[in-house]
Amino acid sequence: MQAIQIIQAEHSKLWRLATTINTVAEEIDAGGALTPEFFDAVFDYIESFVDQSHHPKEDDYLFRLLRQRTDQAAQLLSQLEADHRGGPDTLKSLRQSLGRARNGELAQFTNALRDYTEGLKKHIRTEERDLIPLAKEALTADDWQEINRAFLDNQDPLFGEHAKEEFRELYHRIAALAPESVGLGGHSSGELKPGAAPRVDLLLKVSGLESSYGRIKALKGIDFEVRRGETVALVGANGAGKTTFLRALSGVQPMGAGSIHFDGRDISKLRSDLRMRAGICQCPEGRQVFGPLSIDDNLRLGAYTQPKSQVAGDLEKIFSMFPILKEKRRLPAGTLSGGQQQMLAIGRALMGRPKLLLLDEPSMGLAPLLVEEVFNVVKTLKSEGMTIILAEQNAFAALAIADRGYVMETGTITLSGTGQELISNEQVRAAYLGM
Ligand SMILES: Nc1ncnc2c1ncn2[C@@H]1O[C@H](COP(=O)(O)OP(=O)(O)OP(=O)(O)O)[C@@H](O)[C@H]1O
Ligand SMILES: [Mg+2]
Repeated sequence: MQAIQIIQAEHSKLWRLATTINTVAEEIDAGGALTPEFFDAVFDYIESFVDQSHHPKEDDYLFRLLRQRTDQAAQLLSQLEADHRGGPDTLKSLRQSLGRARNGELAQFTNALRDYTEGLKKHIRTEERDLIPLAKEALTADDWQEINRAFLDNQDPLFGEHAKEEFRELYHRIAALAPESVGLGGHSSGELKPGAAPRVDLLLKVSGLESSYGRIKALKGIDFEVRRGETVALVGANGAGKTTFLRALSGVQPMGAGSIHFDGRDISKLRSDLRMRAGICQCPEGRQVFGPLSIDDNLRLGAYTQPKSQVAGDLEKIFSMFPILKEKRRLPAGTLSGGQQQMLAIGRALMGRPKLLLLDEPSMGLAPLLVEEVFNVVKTLKSEGMTIILAEQNAFAALAIADRGYVMETGTITLSGTGQELISNEQVRAAYLGM
């Protein structure tokens, strides 16, 4: 039932958006500034994605077929369809209310926002709690085939392989334009352009890797492979050993046994700076930007193993990906918001021209909207052909964008497979996805 997965992914995305809208509304009530361009972006997204795509697909396929199969659904469906029909008008009045808010009528606007998000959340809850279970019971395999086809045709902006670029771009704008407390607090939507990913040979091969802290063995013989152009997720609970593994790869954590082959040679005994020069660049857990140094200097530090001649050009590339960093380039990194610091940390790693990019929990501690934005960045890098290891506690999101994944438990790899295989795996669902 791929359609159900897509609908649920779309729901969780809308839920995050609703949460974000509420936070911003509260800030406005508490005297914060109104950011009209953020709300314009939100309304544009809702209009084109929710009202013109998500709802019509539900109406035309899921609801229509369900109505044919069972009488039980009639009342429920009428209510949900009425919500859908009301969508465009609600949005129109929200836009008008935003217009009045620009002239100072803030309280009415924030109240209207809260009414809207409350309605949206109620609608999502009804679909998840009542409609979907009923549909699972009543619909036939043929029905699902038809519904799946409709939903796969136009998949979720973040998690779908056939993502519609415009939805993704619109959503991306929301994070860029949102106030700093919940977004990146920038003024531009950036230019994150996808390309083709070459997928050929093995870039990294780790065999029997062990590593210890004193007498505690944190890694107990890890076998791990990454092909060129792949995004590989490493998921596992707190203390599983994800960070230790990434640090062992970049050479800052000593290894007790095993071997690491990278880009055609054995680097097991290579110093960390030489591994970086060879193309293993790590974006560390907790970002670890240098607070007192300017954004510019933080990025330049990422290029310390690179020839000076290419630094200026590479800086511009990073700035075109993350316009907010360009705007603030002379300011101390410590003045950036959490989300911006994460972009800086990723940018700094990219300045080393990685052949293999190691991302350690890039979504940690970020506002919900930015969690999504970070995964968008990873997705874009992936589409440009970057090879990535993504360590995450946020297992679902990581596996959803990964080609393959490994599950780590107390220093051991317990499962591996494609991202989709792991997402569908009962054990993984129970342990990490809360399903
Ligand atoms: N500096 C250290 N000294 C001693 N033990 C450590 C140290 N760092 C980590 N450990 C231990 O090694 C094990 C693996 O930790 P690690 O940080 O690699 O896990 P993780 O999967 O990255 O966890 P998290 O999701 O919390 O980041 C844990 O048992 C942890 O307590
Ligand atoms: Mg960690």
